[in-house]
Amino acid sequence: MKLVISSDSISKNSTETVLLPIFEGFELPECMRRTASLEKLLERVGQSGFKACCGKTLRVLENTRQTLLIGLGKAEDYDEDAFIKASCAAFKAAGDAELALNVEDWAVENRSAEWTILHLAIAALTVKEPTKEPIESKDNACCVMHTRLAAQDAMSALELGQAIGNAINRAKYLGNLAPNICTPQYLAKEAQKLRKLKNVTVKIHDEKALQKLGAGGILAVSRGAANPARLIELHYKGADKSVSPICLVGKGITFDAGGLCLKPGRRMNEMKYDMAGAAAVLSVFETAAAMRLPLNLTVIVAASENMPDGNAYRPADVITTLSGDTVEITNTDAEGRLLLADALTYTAHFEPACVIDVATLTGAVQVALGDYHHGLFANDPILRQTLEEAADVSQDALWALPFDTPYYRSMLKSNVADTQNTGPAGLGGASVAATFLARFADCDTPWAHLDVAATAWKSGQQPLSTGRPVALLLAWLHQQSVEQTL
Ligand code: BES
Ligand code: MN
Ligand code: ZN
Repeated sequence: MKLVISSDSISKNSTETVLLPIFEGFELPECMRRTASLEKLLERVGQSGFKACCGKTLRVLENTRQTLLIGLGKAEDYDEDAFIKASCAAFKAAGDAELALNVEDWAVENRSAEWTILHLAIAALTVKEPTKEPIESKDNACCVMHTRLAAQDAMSALELGQAIGNAINRAKYLGNLAPNICTPQYLAKEAQKLRKLKNVTVKIHDEKALQKLGAGGILAVSRGAANPARLIELHYKGADKSVSPICLVGKGITFDAGGLCLKPGRRMNEMKYDMAGAAAVLSVFETAAAMRLPLNLTVIVAASENMPDGNAYRPADVITTLSGDTVEITNTDAEGRLLLADALTYTAHFEPACVIDVATLTGAVQVALGDYHHGLFANDPILRQTLEEAADVSQDALWALPFDTPYYRSMLKSNVADTQNTGPAGLGGASVAATFLARFADCDTPWAHLDVAATAWKSGQQPLSTGRPVALLLAWLHQQSVEQTL
């Protein structure tokens, strides 16, 4: 969908369809004027039985112009979530029509017009689900956003919203791909394609290179897989080489059968989404480089399958990770943390300013938080705070959880190795996993771990990738780049 900003009044617009958001009881948003023709329209709508519940829409034809009414729900309940629900419903109902809307009509208390534009753009671009093919912005649909905001401010909000919307679509598309297509080699090829971007370099480590490196965590997990593992390394230089890079790490398990600790068959198909962290950081990398953000960015993706096989790693095996620490395997289904252990160790080469890893790591995070918030585990208060701010702006929610305390560390003690890879079943699994990772993160570098196991896709008969936490990461990177140039 093409999105355009206009400072003209919407009444001068001659497009086919005008969006009219409205509260229950036909209360109009504050800024909207009650003209005689609007009163007449609302009277007709009242007779139709339309109640303006949040997310409900009604098309009304007057002369040649259509009005698409969008219910916002009760005025006193109208908040960020209601706005996003209603605006998504509006773009879905509008289809391919030529649209016009008034940005100020959608205003949410305590949120700027820039914020409204950002989220209208994200909603407009992400209503179609990229299940079978990637979504290109080639379609004919167009939406003119009328606003009183200064053109420059409106444009920069729109540009960020478009970048985020397109990045969400790419991450969704990668996530939705079938696991026989989206293999570790496929992810590596997708990463290679990004070499075409300015100031980008890409390095792929195959299994031979991983052996030479000593990446025993990744190699243990991939032993049972017919498709070989890859460690993918991308660098974008958008700032002086003296500026330490921000490092993003993604879990790229392209299918998690559980290994010898085989998962039950029910919903095993959804384990194709176990590379959602990788999809998110790859998409964020592409967008940050294309936007030419003034920062240095390194992305590391550890990609493998986790399969049962005669050659697979076993429960009770002791493996040596890239850091040199040994791990007693107590459950082969806790594979993500083994890949991430090596990937986190590897990031030290780049002396990063900070490291953020994104992983569908534990079913336990869904028990702890549900599927609205990502689980956040951070070893640094400033990183935690800036991520919370970015989550607030992007409406990509997270919640900080405890980890790496003596209590959690005691759960990972091993008689035969430096650590076990799992703790006792049913006790704070998301926090225990983060505690395992903390051993491999440099304690002098700000580090955050995002457990997105409950938020990266919607489960069900027709599971769908959500593209999360792309919006969070891009909002955060954007925020960081503003701070760096000040
Ligand atoms: N990829 C899974 C996590 C997961 C499970 C995501 C269910 C979404 C839904 C991860 O590799 C895993 O299997 N974790 C185990 C850890 C356990 C063995 C300590 C889990 O959560 O059951
Ligand atoms: Mn697993
Ligand atoms: Zn997994």
